[in-house]
Amino acid sequence: MVSSGEQKIQWAYQYMPVLQAIRKRFEEEKPLAGQKIGMALHVEAKTACLVRTLAAGGAEVYITGCNPLSTQDDVAEALREGGIECYAKRGCNTEEYYEAIDKVLDAKPTLTIDDGMDLINRVHIDRRDCLPQIVGACEETTTGIHRLKAMHADGKLEFPVIAVNDTPMKHYFDNVHGTGESALSSIMLTTNCLVAGKHVVVAGYGYCGRGVATKARALGARVIVTEVDPRRALQAHFDGFDVLKMSEAAKLGDLFITTTGNCSIITGEHFPLLKDGALLANAGHFNNEITIPWLEEHASEIDHRDGIDTYIVDGKKIHLLAEGRLVNLATPKGMGHPIEVMDLSFAVQALSVEYMAKHGKDLAPGVHDVPTEIDEYIARLKLESVGASLDELTPEQIEYMGSWNHGT
Ligand SMILES: NC(=O)c1ccc[n+]([C@@H]2O[C@H](COP(=O)([O-])OP(=O)(O)OC[C@H]3O[C@@H](n4cnc5c(N)ncnc54)[C@H](O)[C@@H]3O)[C@@H](O)[C@H]2O)c1
Repeated sequence: MVSSGEQKIQWAYQYMPVLQAIRKRFEEEKPLAGQKIGMALHVEAKTACLVRTLAAGGAEVYITGCNPLSTQDDVAEALREGGIECYAKRGCNTEEYYEAIDKVLDAKPTLTIDDGMDLINRVHIDRRDCLPQIVGACEETTTGIHRLKAMHADGKLEFPVIAVNDTPMKHYFDNVHGTGESALSSIMLTTNCLVAGKHVVVAGYGYCGRGVATKARALGARVIVTEVDPRRALQAHFDGFDVLKMSEAAKLGDLFITTTGNCSIITGEHFPLLKDGALLANAGHFNNEITIPWLEEHASEIDHRDGIDTYIVDGKKIHLLAEGRLVNLATPKGMGHPIEVMDLSFAVQALSVEYMAKHGKDLAPGVHDVPTEIDEYIARLKLESVGASLDELTPEQIEYMGSWNHGT
């Protein structure tokens, strides 16, 4: 009988035509033969499809989670049954989390893939024994890239890393549509509450925030945005959202979703202003956007249940989802981004890893862009798979676009 983890992987794989095409080529060409790939990613079905694609390319793959609450244990088990070294476990504590990262590093990977940079951080601080054989790495998310750029600016990053997040084929779709749909669907499944008619406060109007705000409005919510960047705030205004300070929005919101990648967004200054029954969720990478220690200290009562912690503050109920961790992945029913979106993001990962295997030795330590050819190739594969067709520039148009002397 097919295990539940295997069923989930097979379900996802059928909707990943781009990754399927890459896997087919990898099986024939084995471009990753001789490579050991160490990964710290959310271990769920779509990630398993990436793992198998890399293994089909000839790599030995070692993987653990990048968040204590996002692993799907049955998928981790299915990976192990298929011969992949997988150390991820849902609900692990901090010590176990880093022990699992160390197990990946014990394999002495030549290439690494991170989502949030915990693995690369470990290599540079505690596991410098791994540095000599690492050729390069790929990073999946905005927060990881912020951390890597800060590390490089301090002169501490010792190998090249491809910023997968920063390429259009990742953040235009993954951060906007992936986070937008999966954060809301996860909140709805966890709370069984209606979004329509609610005041939804979205903190941060970057790629993720824009996705969440737009999809919440599509469900009938009245959306308020909070921002610190004047251009992003203006964009939210022109997109038709109210833009307020968090101290004002706190009094109005029914549901709050933080997407800033920054810390201390909803804090002790705001909790007392919230309405009774307010729902708080975070879709940014780390669980520090909502100041949970304040709630723990000031609540007269705390009720923990699967996926929701209720804090009673001044007689009012404040419900925190998924312990303030990525709500789309860390609630018991959270399945992460929709499959079609991860088909694109993981296609970028697979081809960036292949690129790093070929060219990593020639790249300087630092944060590098995904080559444009890879990005365009993935867009073309996806367009083909949905039956869309593109016009092509004529020679006249190419000449016109490249010239400066055509005028009135
Ligand atoms: N949930 C997921 O599955 C998922 C997917 C992709 C990215 N992420 C994470 O989501 C976060 C946001 O990613 P992004 O690509 O949208 O980043 P982004 O940089 O495009 O957007 C972040 C926005 O937050 C704003 N911001 C910063 N501090 C703020 C504050 N104090 N108050 C209000 N706004 C503030 C910034 O001005 C910016 O506009 C990152 O942590 C990223 O790693 C999560």
